[in-house]
Amino acid sequence: MIINLIDEGSRQPKYLQLVDTVRQAIRKGQLLAGDSLPSVRELSHNLHLNRHTVMKAFAELIAEGWIESKERVGYRVVTTLPVDSSYLAAVGDQSKTPPRKIEYRFVKAVSHQLAYSDSDYQYDFSGGRPDTALFPFAEFKSHMSDVLSRPDVRQLGYGESEGTPELIAEVKRYLRKARAIIDRDIVITNGSQEAIYIVAQLLLHAGDEVAVEALGYPPAMAAFASAGADLVAIQQDKNGIVPDDLVAKIQQGNIRLIYLTPLHQYPTTVTLTVSRRMAIYQLAATHGIPIIEDDYDHEFHYRCQPLAPMASQDPQQLVIYLSTFSKIMFPGTRIGFMALSASMAEAVKNYRVLINHKSNVFMQSALARWMKEGGFERHIRRTTRINQQRRDHAIAMLHEMDCFEFDTPDGGMALWLKIKKPTVSAAALAQQAQKIGIYIQHEGAYHLVAGDNQDCFIRVGFAGMNKADFSLGMRLLAALL
Ligand SMILES: Cc1ncc(COP(=O)(O)O)c(C=O)c1O
Repeated sequence: MIINLIDEGSRQPKYLQLVDTVRQAIRKGQLLAGDSLPSVRELSHNLHLNRHTVMKAFAELIAEGWIESKERVGYRVVTTLPVDSSYLAAVGDQSKTPPRKIEYRFVKAVSHQLAYSDSDYQYDFSGGRPDTALFPFAEFKSHMSDVLSRPDVRQLGYGESEGTPELIAEVKRYLRKARAIIDRDIVITNGSQEAIYIVAQLLLHAGDEVAVEALGYPPAMAAFASAGADLVAIQQDKNGIVPDDLVAKIQQGNIRLIYLTPLHQYPTTVTLTVSRRMAIYQLAATHGIPIIEDDYDHEFHYRCQPLAPMASQDPQQLVIYLSTFSKIMFPGTRIGFMALSASMAEAVKNYRVLINHKSNVFMQSALARWMKEGGFERHIRRTTRINQQRRDHAIAMLHEMDCFEFDTPDGGMALWLKIKKPTVSAAALAQQAQKIGIYIQHEGAYHLVAGDNQDCFIRVGFAGMNKADFSLGMRLLAALL
């Protein structure tokens, strides 16, 4: 076979050009396993290359495993190429025979579309979106800059999968002070979603049942389903999930885990009453069923102090408490935390290593400093006040518009609105709104049992934009009605 350099004008060193030429010849099947290569002398003569250049190329090809040097034979293509020449020809020259692409067998694919891009809606009423314009970036930057200027090099490795000690200490202190949670171990996670996923993997066998709110948070449901669990919808009303229905479902089936959003039920915004919390806790304790308490926007409570989490009165340590910085800061922070019994914390800490070892150390350290210095609580006080004003503004405006029936939520970042006009479909409204740059959520996305969908509720966030924008967007939405 005649070997020519691929590209005379290339700026690559000559020896690498020769390496490429030989590699490609082998890939294309022009050189087969065991074929002899021209001698160094011959090649250097033909290609006008220095002998050293050719020898350097051959040495590289030997190191990569393409050719070998045999005494008295010279250089030849290795005899142990793992694939036959027709295959090499197919993959080597894609212009002639495009290779057939593999069809992957997805055994754990998520059945519906959960991933999305953050589209640029002019009016984005998604209920879980905080207003990033309120975030004190300059203040946070000084902490991040500090952390980068004087990094604690001991923390830059794979260790401490439970989180950096400073952030754990700050979260512990904050939980004790603001949420009355005292006797738990803290594990920092990449948002609550990672926490939900880990718990699902740790506690569920295929075929186990998980009790979830009948209208619920799709990413959590998908995480349980991906662990092989069957989801069981628990009825809910204006006071949250109905304990009697939970009793019935526990007696009928094989419920191994309960998932709740007790403070601001997702998506209906209802607060689970104290008496129901106690009833549910007693039930879970009697049957030995752990409860995931997903407390994702705890501080944003306006009618009174937020109810203390179920995890704060949990002598049996059956509550797996999760929370997040996604609403106080922004979702891209990807920092959440769990408050757990010692045995659960140990299991979670070990399981994390399988996924991603730990959370970003610089973000953890900057956050810990921001918390220690008081900026975090200042920001919470400010955003809670602003969110309350935004909620009140939204309520006043919606009363005036008179297109929806609704209860004023005690807290949270969103409203759950029933369209008054019986002929209007919530799903169709969301679709029409999207066409004019407005994002709203509709009830069809949240029902575990599709047949329960009345198609008349929408979820409208009020925290993600200022009052003026909320009014403008709402008027456009009302015009569609
Ligand atoms: C019910 C619920 N749980 C948790 C989260 C927060 O998830 P993460 O911490 O992964 O951002 C959200 C955010 O929308 C939510 O609505």
